[in-house]
Amino acid sequence: MFVCQSCGTQSPKWMGRCSGCGEWNTLVEEVSGGEEPRPGLPRKAGRATPLPEVSFDEGARLFTGMAEVDRVLGGGLFPGGVTLLGGDPGVGKSTLLLQLFGHLARGRTLLYASGEESLAQVAARAGRLGIESSTLNLYAETSLEAILGEVERLAPAALAVDSIQTAGTSALSATPGSLSQVRECSARLIEVAKGRGMPVVMVGHITKDGMIAGPKALEHMVDTVLYLEGDKYRHLKVLRAQKNRFGATSELALLDMTGEGLKEVENPSAALLADRPLHVPGSIIGVAVQGTRPLLFEIQALTSPSAFGLAKRMSLGLDRNRVQLLTAVLERAARMTMGDRDLFVNVVGGVELDEPALDLPLCMAVASAYRGEALPSELAAFGEVGLAGEIRGVGSARARAVEAAALGFTRCLLPASDHKRLENPPRGITLHPVTRLDEALALLLP
Ligand code: TYD
Ligand code: MG
Repeated sequence: MFVCQSCGTQSPKWMGRCSGCGEWNTLVEEVSGGEEPRPGLPRKAGRATPLPEVSFDEGARLFTGMAEVDRVLGGGLFPGGVTLLGGDPGVGKSTLLLQLFGHLARGRTLLYASGEESLAQVAARAGRLGIESSTLNLYAETSLEAILGEVERLAPAALAVDSIQTAGTSALSATPGSLSQVRECSARLIEVAKGRGMPVVMVGHITKDGMIAGPKALEHMVDTVLYLEGDKYRHLKVLRAQKNRFGATSELALLDMTGEGLKEVENPSAALLADRPLHVPGSIIGVAVQGTRPLLFEIQALTSPSAFGLAKRMSLGLDRNRVQLLTAVLERAARMTMGDRDLFVNVVGGVELDEPALDLPLCMAVASAYRGEALPSELAAFGEVGLAGEIRGVGSARARAVEAAALGFTRCLLPASDHKRLENPPRGITLHPVTRLDEALALLLP
């Protein structure tokens, strides 16, 4: 049966346009059979349970052996939780998953189903990663029914499916990787995961337009969506929780791709600031909070006279509209004319950030680039900038200042309202509270 995803109209054959609502490209093949219970999950009607009688053992979570990954997961794999691990091809998803399962397999039976690589290929990689667990079962298979059969036989403590786009069920005629297959296979895996209390991690490739195939459908079905970011040419990768029913979102871990697989980065802020230039105009350190943890990022700005009177605004790592808006605020606050100047902004490390706390460091970097004067190299900054040029509080001030102090910064520019709420300010760092952007500029770029 083909069902319109927008209005629910059913049709026995595929059509480009739904006859019910007239939308284009909304018909997707689905398994018919409506109310009957699906195989693999007996539907028994139970009773609702009063909250205090629901038992949950925090110790039931599985720890992956990489503390950073566990933190992003919200404290290990949740029993029955389904995690989608997304990312560009070649970024290291299979490597990460195999490493995690290699560790989890100590003392537990696990199943790693790969539809992308042969057994020999997976085994060769496991050898390279130093995994030699006899309880880790590899299975090169694309048929969902076969994979679920092995789950039945082995009763593993966790299941990995690499990738959801290569898995297919015989219930549908569509080819693996199509939206209907991806959705149906995920739905079946989720049922089995919940039914058995077995965590499932599935890999999903992101298509070129930045979406996981089976677009948002998959994201809202699973419990946790993790993205592994970073390009092939950079050894530093970022693992980020896009959605997490069991923990904080936007939690982030830095991982380093080495010859022996991915390694946790011990001090992420230090790694991000490793090659920072000192005493150059247009560079400043901003303190962001990603999830529950403060992190230092270098923000760079460059301005140059624009050709043909068309001012360009380019940004890597920060939202371009935000950069444009803040440039306008800055023009007024600092009496700068940016109309005939190109502006390029970059967050070093290839990380995408959308935290308003980076407004103030961004404005300072642009002003410093414009004036050709360097900011003090021992300075870190955070704060949101409003349209009137006011500096707004962003919270977590103490954690941010402590992180800056820990990395040797001795001065910190911060919103006055955050400073007022700060009890017990950290030692070793001089705080400069500001209420307006022009005040910050007068202080640091007189
Ligand atoms: P892979 O996990 O296959 O990526 P994905 O599953 O996301 O498509 O790994 C991609 C790259 O990682 C590959 O080009 C080789 C590199 N790599 C290392 O640098 N070190 C290692 O130990 C391993 C296993 C892979
Ligand atoms: Mg892979």
